[in-house]
Amino acid sequence: MEQEILRIENLYFNYSDASVLRDVNFTLHKGDFLGIIGANGAGKSTLIKIILKILPYSQGKITLFGQDLSRFKDNYKIGYVSQKANSFNSDFPATVKEVVMANLYSRKGLFRRYTREDYEKLRIVLDKVGMSGFENKLIGKLSGGQQQRIFIARALISEPELLLMDEPTVGVDAKSVRQIMDIITDLNNQGMTIIMTNHDTPELVKVSGKLLIFCEHGNGEFVSRNNLTMEQINDIFAGRRTHHHA
Ligand SMILES: Nc1ncnc2c1ncn2[C@@H]1O[C@H](COP(=O)(O)OP(=O)(O)O)[C@@H](O)[C@H]1O
Ligand SMILES: [Mg+2]
Repeated sequence: MEQEILRIENLYFNYSDASVLRDVNFTLHKGDFLGIIGANGAGKSTLIKIILKILPYSQGKITLFGQDLSRFKDNYKIGYVSQKANSFNSDFPATVKEVVMANLYSRKGLFRRYTREDYEKLRIVLDKVGMSGFENKLIGKLSGGQQQRIFIARALISEPELLLMDEPTVGVDAKSVRQIMDIITDLNNQGMTIIMTNHDTPELVKVSGKLLIFCEHGNGEFVSRNNLTMEQINDIFAGRRTHHHA
């Protein structure tokens, strides 16, 4: 059995009055690709933020790399790519190199100088996202899809073992969506554990091995992609069918 990466048990969450997550349960092992699907407002981002410790949970247990989430301090093991909220002015004064390498600080401490090894890491992650040669370009001069690939490189440079992506393909053009999905699939094939949310179900279902499906008023049902047809997945999504457990 592969190493356990993340275990969520009986997780509940409410925003003051509204109950959002109700009894979410799943376990991921190294190399798993979890797709989280559900309509807008279903709770996908909330779950991601809880795992990132941005939001506290009200009830349940989360274990990351074998440690209780409250004691987990190895933040560099977690990579995060958000929805493309990052629309830069075209004169935003940061280069690709600066944006990507800034994420080495979490490991290096603030005042360390970059080494040749750091520049080698930069070269490797830009190559992984198909952005070699863009080191000195201003981030704001790139297209939305290119910027998002740079943000994937930024997440990768600290060599995470778990990559969380919250709707990383929203707001980018169709060609970039395919490029980004290919990059993510390659990373997963190389053993990276991935959690990705998307409201575009078919796109994500194609590449995920496991799914957490939030149907309307549902709790989030955890299923193995392999055991289900697309029709069965749609049924769960639409709330027509439950109790398929992975
Ligand atoms: N900061 C907040 N305060 C109160 N309610 C919130 C907050 N953020 C999100 N919500 C509500 O929680 C629910 C889940 O939101 P979210 O996790 O963002 O869903 P998703 O990412 O699936 O679209 C929605 O009904 C949303 O309106
Ligand atoms: Mg969201």
